[in-house]
Amino acid sequence: MTDTPYEEVTDIDTKSSDVIWHKADVCSSDRQLLNSQKPVVLWYTGLSGSGKSTVANAVDRMLFDKSCHTYVLDGDNVRHGLNGDLGFSDTERVENIRRIGEVAKLFVDAGIIVSTAFISPFNADRELVKNLLCEGQFIEVFIDTPIEVCESRDPKGLYKKARAGEIKHFTGIDSVYEAPKVADIHVKTSDQSIEDCAKQIVSYLLSNGYINKK
Ligand code: ADX
Repeated sequence: MTDTPYEEVTDIDTKSSDVIWHKADVCSSDRQLLNSQKPVVLWYTGLSGSGKSTVANAVDRMLFDKSCHTYVLDGDNVRHGLNGDLGFSDTERVENIRRIGEVAKLFVDAGIIVSTAFISPFNADRELVKNLLCEGQFIEVFIDTPIEVCESRDPKGLYKKARAGEIKHFTGIDSVYEAPKVADIHVKTSDQSIEDCAKQIVSYLLSNGYINKK
């Protein structure tokens, strides 16, 4: 298996058969060497209010402080731009995750450790993203916070609105969330501090050779 997810692909449908792959001069392993890290997607999944963005940002800060090359793609932020045309029907959520999967793959090709904080409620979509990448380039992080805790936090007041029927298709209320069966990293924000959650993830990266700076 190659270390780059971004090599010439021949089995993907494009709108035109006249689109020809252009091979890059600088390859993924060159960037990996320059950055002294193994690029990877840290795919955070969990309910709204579970702490995905908070934990992802805490991990990002720890990695940045170790001079790692990182970036965070956040659901709410990306929905202000790239995915601003998408709502919350099942079909739109599938497209949301498909696009983010492709963007995350570009980041990995660029040599970055990229964190994605999206509810990503469907197992099949997370599996699809995993399959876009090479072996070892997708780490699923389950931010496992019970809905009662998310609802009591309600940082954006959205659960209250959903209960009042002002927001439809709200995850965990009238739209499904499929928890990972076996995530690579299982984090319980209701039992641990944010710092401990972040340390758990950074030590996984260290012990699995993604980063080498203690
Ligand atoms: S996903 O299901 O398609 O992965 P995504 O992570 O991009 O969702 O966006 C979720 C964020 O959008 C939530 O954290 C919340 O702030 C906001 N939001 C607005 N409407 C909804 C809704 N109906 N269901 C879930 N989240 C919503």
